[in-house]
Amino acid sequence: MHDILPSDTPYWQMLETAVRRLMRNYSYEEIRMPLVEKTELFVRTIGDVTDIVEKEMYTFEDRNGDSLSLRPEGTASCVRAGIEHGLLHNQIQRLWYMGPMFRHERPQKGRYRQFQQVGVEAFGIASAALDAELIFMTQRLWKALGLNDLQLQLNTLGSSASRIAYREQLVEYFSDHHNELDDDSKKRLTRNPLRILDSKNPALSELIQAAPLLSEFLDEESQQHFSELTALLDARGINYEVNPHLMRGLDYYQKTVFEWVTDQLGAQGTVCAGGRYDGLVEQLGGRATPAAGFALGVDRLMALLQSRDVTPEHDFSQLYLILVGDAVQHAGLQLAETVRDALPEIRLRVNCGGGKFNAQMKRADRSGADIALILAEDEHNNAQISVKYLREERPQKTIGQSKLIEYLDNLMKTRVSK
Ligand code: HAM
Repeated sequence: MHDILPSDTPYWQMLETAVRRLMRNYSYEEIRMPLVEKTELFVRTIGDVTDIVEKEMYTFEDRNGDSLSLRPEGTASCVRAGIEHGLLHNQIQRLWYMGPMFRHERPQKGRYRQFQQVGVEAFGIASAALDAELIFMTQRLWKALGLNDLQLQLNTLGSSASRIAYREQLVEYFSDHHNELDDDSKKRLTRNPLRILDSKNPALSELIQAAPLLSEFLDEESQQHFSELTALLDARGINYEVNPHLMRGLDYYQKTVFEWVTDQLGAQGTVCAGGRYDGLVEQLGGRATPAAGFALGVDRLMALLQSRDVTPEHDFSQLYLILVGDAVQHAGLQLAETVRDALPEIRLRVNCGGGKFNAQMKRADRSGADIALILAEDEHNNAQISVKYLREERPQKTIGQSKLIEYLDNLMKTRVSK
């Protein structure tokens, strides 16, 4: 779990702003869910033989003896909330959320135990047009962030019937090669054989390459759905690679699954992942409702943005109000409030607690301020204030306090339009 320090938060805010704009642009509505849910919810949705549920959840008993878990992802909670509040019944919902998720994974670059996701979930639309919309959204976000070299991997998992048939074939195939499997895969063989295909162990890559493919077992409807999706992506000029081994680590998917990946982040290169989960709402007790979504790994996107030198847009310069002498402290605080009343966009920091002029100037400089406003007794007595530019060669200026708001307002306008 890691702290996000003030030097990094402007990047996070930049992404959050871009996300909010994107969601508005596609008319998705925000939903906020609790960080804690009944453990059972995740076991039933993500799957009891997935890595997440088997070994990564923060699970505890509360005072009533109920088993609760910190959420490892948001889809399950979103479906639960949708059913509980009657949002899904015969309705179309396009929802999004942002917040921390928790998984007790082995920490490494790009993999944390508390990480941030932006999730998008849409309910009530069975058509491939929705799958395409989700991918268009992500593509638009990459463009807004200047990330133009992410690759889209795409697969279809078919209906649950086609997966069951495929699973049998796969167990047969890997059982015939039992000696070549590593320990992890041997465990997965009986419990979750499709996940062997996701193995990153190079020793298994040949065996996996030669394994039977799910595409050979696909039902016609899923095939049709997938070709509609690829036609929509083609028409929009979005490049993708069909990766028949892309399985995803959560059990609820059917039909489309996708991941956006980069080779710039080492082993943890997936920055966004999602797919269709048409069976999940019904499985949790709601009416059968088609659904699809994705989640962005915000920490990983941050690492990418920062490695690229993308700099957040600069706000209007910060101002630092220096108050010299006991006599001006009271008036100085009042003046600062008057300025904030008139200019709510301004970034104004007041030197609270006195100090010598030089010490205050140092603080102003260290705060990153571009401009110091100086109120000492002289200025105070003449109803004036001095303006000193800390990062530019410009002469210090003294103006009447009655002109200060107009002066700062003009300054903001010229700086912002620069
Ligand atoms: P997921 O693939 O488990 O899917 O996670 C989505 C993204 O969250 C990953 O691609 C990655 O970028 C980020 N992520 C996951 N674990 C970590 C970690 N330990 N540290 C940093 N980042 C991480 C889901 O969670 C699904 N709920 C996505 C979805 C929404 N499918 C349909 N709707």
